[in-house]
Amino acid sequence: MRPRPGDRSAGHAWRFSCSRPSAPAGARSPGRTATVLPDTRLYNERHPHFSCISRIAMTQTHFGFQQVPEEQKVKKVAEVFHSVAAKYDVMNDLMSAGLHRLWKAFTISQAAIRPGFKVLDIAAGTGDLTKAFAKRAGPSGEVWHTDINESMLRVGRDRMINHGLVLPTLICDAEKLPFPDNYFDRVSVAFGLRNMTHKDQALAEMRRVLKPGGKLLVLEFSKVAAPLQKPYDIYSFKVLPWLGQKIANDAESYRYLAESIRMHPDQETLKGMMQDAGLDRVDYFNLTGGVAALHVGVKL
Ligand SMILES: C[S@@+](CC[C@H](N)C(=O)[O-])C[C@H]1O[C@@H](n2cnc3c(N)ncnc32)[C@H](O)[C@@H]1O
Repeated sequence: MRPRPGDRSAGHAWRFSCSRPSAPAGARSPGRTATVLPDTRLYNERHPHFSCISRIAMTQTHFGFQQVPEEQKVKKVAEVFHSVAAKYDVMNDLMSAGLHRLWKAFTISQAAIRPGFKVLDIAAGTGDLTKAFAKRAGPSGEVWHTDINESMLRVGRDRMINHGLVLPTLICDAEKLPFPDNYFDRVSVAFGLRNMTHKDQALAEMRRVLKPGGKLLVLEFSKVAAPLQKPYDIYSFKVLPWLGQKIANDAESYRYLAESIRMHPDQETLKGMMQDAGLDRVDYFNLTGGVAALHVGVKL
């Protein structure tokens, strides 16, 4: 059966790793699937040499509508963004008819960056938000352009240099941020959270690096209002892969985009996840009938 968007059964979880055997059943952990039966623990106790292997091998997650081992998802997401990096910006404009610029402009206004701010842009890719934040934070500010994918970062870094901006650009995984606690005034992630394997861990990391009083901004595709559902589905599953093939010679990556949007937690679910990660005053704004949503939370 095809998993449904916002399906939280994935998190009813036996969460396995070698260091941490399990998380409490019912813990919120969308994106992770429970495939290991409790009996396996008995086997693992008797055969400790094999236990880690069996646990890791069976931890599944989703990549679009497919179920894949977690490690494979990371590789597949990397392939998508290596493949689309060169055409990413032109495809963004075409696919959204320029709407992504309005959604980002709204995000920038909500970020209310002031001169001297320290800002971390996660999954920053080609750097639309980073560039705008850097202009507002000014020379006394510190704005980091970060992403897990080198191809995306290279395109972004070159664009910024062309605009006269030289910023710290860093390859890093949002799930393991290489920054100290309580460091940033603002943390942002635009259209990146959807691709992360352990969204709960990434959100906890984003909160950790925020200063008390700092704000997290999560811009992401979301659940559209009911009247838009049908035309949006036709557009996503027919037009997007066709455009991807024509412009970027890659229909598959844009099929993944459509599927990953359907698998991403809806507005209320993501709000709950941000609250679970310890963020306060969490709220969201629907943009273009819920095609995208901006979630904002504060670390108190
Ligand atoms: C759709 S692009 C968004 C780029 C940019 N923020 C924008 O709004 O145009 C998604 C980005 O998320 C990045 N990404 C995926 N998983 C990540 C992770 N675990 N940590 C950091 N970045 C990640 C991808 O490499 C990709 O560049």
